[in-house]
Amino acid sequence: MPEDTLTITDNRTGKTYTAPIKDGAIRAMDLRPIKTSEDDFGLMSYDPAFMNTASCISRITFIDGDLGILRYRGYPIDQLAEKCSFLEVAYLILHGELPTAAQLSSFEAEVKQHSMVPEFIKRVLDAMSPEAHPMGMLATCLAALATYYPESRNVLDAGNRWLQTVRLIAKVPTLGAYAYRRKNELPYVGPDNDLTYAGNFMNMLWKMTEAKYQPHPDLEWALNVLFILHADHEQNCSANAMRSVSSSQADPYASAAAAVAALWGPLHGGANEEVLKMLDQIGSMENIPAFIEKVKKREVMLMGFGHRIYKNYDPRARIIKAAADKVFAVTGRNPKLEIAIELERIALSDDFFISRKLYPNVDFYSGIIYQALGFKPDIFTVLFAIPRMTGWLAQWRELITDKEQKIARPRQLFLGYGHRDVPASR
Ligand code: ACO
Repeated sequence: MPEDTLTITDNRTGKTYTAPIKDGAIRAMDLRPIKTSEDDFGLMSYDPAFMNTASCISRITFIDGDLGILRYRGYPIDQLAEKCSFLEVAYLILHGELPTAAQLSSFEAEVKQHSMVPEFIKRVLDAMSPEAHPMGMLATCLAALATYYPESRNVLDAGNRWLQTVRLIAKVPTLGAYAYRRKNELPYVGPDNDLTYAGNFMNMLWKMTEAKYQPHPDLEWALNVLFILHADHEQNCSANAMRSVSSSQADPYASAAAAVAALWGPLHGGANEEVLKMLDQIGSMENIPAFIEKVKKREVMLMGFGHRIYKNYDPRARIIKAAADKVFAVTGRNPKLEIAIELERIALSDDFFISRKLYPNVDFYSGIIYQALGFKPDIFTVLFAIPRMTGWLAQWRELITDKEQKIARPRQLFLGYGHRDVPASR
């Protein structure tokens, strides 16, 4: 009968140790008893960038990177994108089950009740230049909300956690839209509770002098799909930032500001902005082969390609590519799409990309739709952060209620100087 254990022989001492294997993992702490002497600290594992370290047990999002599978709470992403509203998916991600009709309408009502932001947020935004990056505006506003809701620090209280969860999901589209209006030096437009989550966001972005803003149904549909695709993605850089910061029991607004900062980086959510800059730089089809050569010479990165987990087509990129047609039927075709499709075709037939399993990720096509919708590249990552707030909050809630979790505190391998004295001449 095979045993679910790992036998380790330490060749330094000849001693043998047994570590249990559970759910495909050994516990790193089971390495600690492996010592060369009594005063040896014990063996650690070294894993920069967490390439092979599970930091938590989670039941929210499942990804099979080799097969290109993404599921929230067991449901495939394509089915959710086709059949659900964003708030239905948000409920699923937070609670683990799809809502009944009554549960959904009560959740929608709660979100609508909290969609306004305090008046001082406008003054915070007005204090920033319209040239400021909207992700910086979003992170600032989230951190500012922590000062407005001091009770949010009571993270161990379940009722309080739920209140802050609803507040953050409700307010993040308002903050994103206000950042957009600040950048465009337009007056702020508050929420319209007659509209859906995506439709109301469009209202706050684009309402001008009309008495009532009516979102175009196909564009509202596309935004709803984009929101669903971006809602969670297990232990990525920003989810890890959310978990790591909130492991100190920091309040969720401050933790979410840290998650926004992590998402902003060009290797993570900031890649959607970089893809558009790259397509602009390429300019036309005939420049693509020369650009690919530059990538292969390591002079530039092919932004929107590659993923730590997906070693196959990112299923979200496939859905976005399909949704693009519906958007372009309303907005007109974005000429960048041709360049992107040709770039993808050439890259996917080139051994450099094939051998490294580099495929388009979610950011490769999302920016092209965002641009067709009328957004400038610097707001793209905000459009990612709005739905991802739900994922961050679900990860936070799971962390806080996980009895095994403690303050996140990695170890280091110290290879610096040993003891040395400050010279007497100092
Ligand atoms: N262009 C060119 N080469 C690449 C790219 C790329 N986009 N991505 C990876 N590679 C190469 C690396 O140079 C490396 O080559 P080597 O083995 O010869 O040294 C190999 O592919 C493996 O790449 P790693 O950097 O080890 O992969 P890692 O898992 O650390 O990085 C990441 C993943 C950060 C996404 C990377 O692919 C990348 O920077 N892509 C471009 C930025 C991007 O699109 N980010 C969005 C990711 S999705 C998201 O966060 C929402």
